Amino acid sequence: MKVSVIGLGYVGLVTSACLAEWGHDVLGADNNRRRLDALLRGAAPFHEPGLDAMVADNLERRRLRFTASATQAARDGDAVIVAVGTHDGNGGWQTLTIQSCLADIVPEMPDDAPLIIRSTMPPDFIRRMALIARAIRSEAGRKPVPVMLNPEFTREGSAIRDFMHPERVVFGSVDDPDGHGLRTLQELYANVTAPMLSMSAMDAAFAKLGANLFLATKISFANELAALCDAYGAHVDNVVQAMGHDPRIGPTFLRAGVGFGGSCLPHQVSMTVRDADRDGIDSPLLDAVNRINHRQRLDLVQHLARMVGQLEGQRVALLGLTFKPHTDDLRDAPSLTVAAELLAAGATVVAYDPMPSARARAIELVPDLVVADDVYAALANASAAALVTEWPEFLQIDWSRAAEAVRRRIIFDGRNALDPSQLRAAGFTYSAFGRMVTGQVAAMEPVQMAMPSGREGRGAGRRTSSRRRRALARVDPESAA
Ligand code: UGA
Repeated sequence: MKVSVIGLGYVGLVTSACLAEWGHDVLGADNNRRRLDALLRGAAPFHEPGLDAMVADNLERRRLRFTASATQAARDGDAVIVAVGTHDGNGGWQTLTIQSCLADIVPEMPDDAPLIIRSTMPPDFIRRMALIARAIRSEAGRKPVPVMLNPEFTREGSAIRDFMHPERVVFGSVDDPDGHGLRTLQELYANVTAPMLSMSAMDAAFAKLGANLFLATKISFANELAALCDAYGAHVDNVVQAMGHDPRIGPTFLRAGVGFGGSCLPHQVSMTVRDADRDGIDSPLLDAVNRINHRQRLDLVQHLARMVGQLEGQRVALLGLTFKPHTDDLRDAPSLTVAAELLAAGATVVAYDPMPSARARAIELVPDLVVADDVYAALANASAAALVTEWPEFLQIDWSRAAEAVRRRIIFDGRNALDPSQLRAAGFTYSAFGRMVTGQVAAMEPVQMAMPSGREGRGAGRRTSSRRRRALARVDPESAA
């Protein structure tokens, strides 16, 4: 089938490459020149395992082509998939990009080509989609096209596998009176053996949103459980391992740590809470999920402060910047909040991440952050270290060598990923969320970070808090608010 994909970010590019891999004839459009230039050279503009090779291979076979012209792509497809951004970059939704994209492409589409929306959208916009598409077609003097929703369930870092071997595929009918839109989608996904579920557009949108909200809830639940484990002296890893054997619970997304980041989970939880509040709907569970997630980032800094005494003037090594391993994505990454908080408390922060592009971007987002080119350089002379992203490289660290490099052997494992016995053998004081080791710490008085008393102190406190707000506003609007 001839498929056009408008928008070549994570969602659109993975969709384009995988559909081409299945043998469809795909034309991808994007108006970002740098992104397009990279793609025409056969290189993905961001890190996603396997994507470079899949793009290059399908370009060579001419099953995948790229253009800067969305209207040309729209004219060309038997189906037109829209995957443009709906995130305002500041924790909110925006639908201007998709509205202007629809205004450009919908008049150009062939009469029998379904419009397939893959972007995640705010629920209230879904109601307007059918009307918008019909109005644009009628103004252009053309008959309506079928409009469908096809939400994606791919994770960064394993997006290709998730697309090619999904657990389910969901189709939502926005405007599909004779079922042509649904039949086209079924043909597009003919290779898939997983259940194909068709439903109303609103059901499909909530099937996507509900999955992400539930995953976020599992993580915040594990983090609350970790705090209880710390307080009462249980080991959260053992607890969730035992719980996970119950098929009603399952073992995944229960790893305690510094919390969830990325462009999807934090944004979708906070926007759902905000929209529900605007619409007079109570959402206390999701509100708590959100607050627990932000608390984890601040708690990591508090734990470090307690372990080193006070943060002012200390050098702290951050291991990992990306919101999870196997991506170079820093969107809403916990590391950025942690770095901004540590800097505001007067610490020097030296970070290392295996992704060079993430290191370069992090110093743009957090101006006083220092980045190192390798993990031992980040650890050199550090008074404390924190693991923020569980990259495999960090699980291979030679802790005896690290022990020689640091000034003080203190480490907080923000992902419950390191082996405490190895660290202790190398002389480190090790702490983590819910691994019993913070039990005594939790019972101690909280330490005031970089806030001396007295007149000068109050001034310094005010400076610190405005510095903190400015730093956080750049990286974590939710915490800065
Ligand atoms: C998420 C969903 O998992 C995908 O199914 C969905 O398609 C995608 O959003 C989307 O809406 O586009 P992604 O944002 O790539 O995918 O990241 P996840 O793998 O879900 O991880 C999110 C965060 O949760 C990461 O920061 C990770 O470190 C954290 N996490 C994950 C935990 O803190 N604990 C866990 O046990 C698991």
